[in-house]
Order: sequence, then structure tokens, then C-alpha cells
Amino acid sequence: MHYDIAVLPGDGTGPEVVAEGLKVLAAAAARAGFTYDLTHYDFGAERYLRTGETLPDSALDELRGHDAIFLGAIGHPDVQPGILEQGILLKARFGLDLYVNLRPVKLYPGVWTPVKDKGPADIDFVVVRENTEGLYASTGGFLKKGTPDEIAVQESVNTRKGAERCIRYAYKYAQRPDRHGKLTLCGKTNVLTYAWDLWWRTFNEVGETEFPEIQRDYSHVDAIVMWFVKNPEWFDVIVTDNMFGDIITDLAAMIQGGLGIAAGGNINPEGTGMFEPMGGSAPKYQGQNVINPLAAIGAAGMMLDWLGHPEAARWVEDGMVHAISKMESLAAGQMGMGTSDVGDLVAQRVANG
Ligand code: IPM
Ligand code: MN
Repeated sequence: MHYDIAVLPGDGTGPEVVAEGLKVLAAAAARAGFTYDLTHYDFGAERYLRTGETLPDSALDELRGHDAIFLGAIGHPDVQPGILEQGILLKARFGLDLYVNLRPVKLYPGVWTPVKDKGPADIDFVVVRENTEGLYASTGGFLKKGTPDEIAVQESVNTRKGAERCIRYAYKYAQRPDRHGKLTLCGKTNVLTYAWDLWWRTFNEVGETEFPEIQRDYSHVDAIVMWFVKNPEWFDVIVTDNMFGDIITDLAAMIQGGLGIAAGGNINPEGTGMFEPMGGSAPKYQGQNVINPLAAIGAAGMMLDWLGHPEAARWVEDGMVHAISKMESLAAGQMGMGTSDVGDLVAQRVANG
């Protein structure tokens, strides 16, 4: 077993957390008995400021040829918001057709949650977010721009194919031995009656014909954020569109302990996968060995699962729980240890079991 992995450390604290993720990957590979090559790419703010280039098409072709992509963080105070997000992150999602955004929401033992009286047994679900359509498709336009009669239209694009492949992935995910066979569709069928009619029919048709054993459930998006706080234990796997998925996964990140621990994957099940910590580049903590690398380490764990090593992914989770038990806090600068110490703790545990 050999893998080609692309590494995009990016900006700010991205390189520091990526280094810890790679440390853990090395330990897992040694124990699981596989090898890999890493190809580093310097896409991010510095390269953009130097060359005006974000993610060229040629790079997209190279990335497509890797088994997985490991991304740190992008964003820089000197770059206008939107340029790097669109030019790198969204370009990779769309260009590589990474149509599933996978966001496990798991409260690990020892992690503080702002949700009172809920613990690790209650907060353990996965959000499958459609990652290439909806309001992110960037169709629409202006009419009479800059005049008092200006009109801006931003359209939500929902294709049967796009909804169906995402929903099918979510059903398959609900079949996994580490899930509980329940899939919740999160939508807005009462108001957005075109888009969610398509999603609703697709959800039921695919469920009835291909996954009759999976329990089907539905929640409006405004209700689901309420239930995330009051009854998070109701959820197993959730499938939703791009915009709703963006919003609900940030709330979900907070109930699992914050951006220091939340990880995600951008996946094309027939192609490659790109794994990233959910937090940003945190420029004010750059180069101080104070940023929490657990989200990046969790992303490396998700990458192991994607590469076909679910057992190694569990070792990483176990290593994270071990590190958490020694940390004073998950917040940057308050961990009671440095970024590299956290990585060492996880890597040692992964290596030795
Ligand atoms: C996320 C982020 C991105 C999104 C931004 C950075 C474009 O918020 O991955 O959730 O909106 O999808
Ligand atoms: Mn987001």
C-alpha cells in the first residue's frame, strides 16, 4: 500500500498545525504498514501577494492525481476577504468536483461543551453537506447596479444528479458500523418549495429503493439548530445543501468544543479527497507554538479513514483523547503545552497503542 498525498500548508498557523498532522500520519503509517509520498504546494496568501496566483488550473490537474490532499489554512490580513477563499478553497471544491463536505461532530471525553448537561454520549453525529451547488454555484447577477433601483439575484442551483449523489453518499455513511442507521434530511420544504421538493423526493426515492433499512427523518434548518442545542443526541447522520450545511456545521463545531478540534473533509468518492481543520489561519498566533493542532490531527485521521484505514483513524482519535486528558484547555495559548507537544502526545500514543 502506497499513497501520494498533496500537502497545502497555507497561511498563518497552517504550516504549524499541518506539521503536527503529518507527525501523526507518519506514526499511523508505520504502525499500519503503509508508505506514502508527500508533495508540498505553497498556494496561499504569500504566493498570491508575490505572484498574483491563487490556484492555477495546472495545479488542479496535479492535485487530481493525488490520493488525498491535506490542507492547513488560508487567509491573510493583507489579502481582501474572498480572494483566497474563492481562488483556492472553492476552486478546489468545484474544480475537483469534491461534492461531499463531511463534518463529523463528536464531543471527545474531557472536552468542554457550552451545552449544559450533555456529554460525549449525546454529541456524536456527522453532517454530509453538498459541496458544489446551491447558493455557492455563483449564478445570478445585477440589474441596474449602482442605481437606486439596483437588483441583485443570487440563485440556488439544485440538480437532481447533484442532490442524488450527495444523498446516496449520506445513506451509505449511515450504514457504516460506527453509525446507527438513521439519516436526517435538513431542509426548508415549507418555504423553499422548488429546491426542497427536489431534495425531498430524491431523499425518499433513494431511501425507499436502495436503503430501506435506514431510518429516514426530516428537520427544517431553523429547527435543527434548535435541536443541536437541546437534543443533539437525536442525530446520527444529517444530509443538507451547501448553504445550510455551511451554517449548521459552525454551530455544530461549537458544541463539539470549538474550532480547535473541528475537522472536515471535501470528498469526491470517485476521485480525491481534501482534508482540513475548520479553523482559520489565526495570524496573531503564527510562529509561537501556541496554536491547537488537534483539528489538523483530526483531519489527518479523516484522511486515514478515506485512504481505507479506519482502524488507523481510530488510533488517531484515541491519541487525541489521550492528549486532551493532559491539556489544560483547547484554546490557543492556554493549552498548558506547545503545539508540537500536543502532536508528540498524539503521535506517541498512535505509535505505541
Ligand atoms: C467552510 C468555510 C468556507 C465555506 C469559506 C471559507 C468559503 O466557511 O468550509 O465552511 O463557506 O464553505
Ligand atoms: Mn463555513
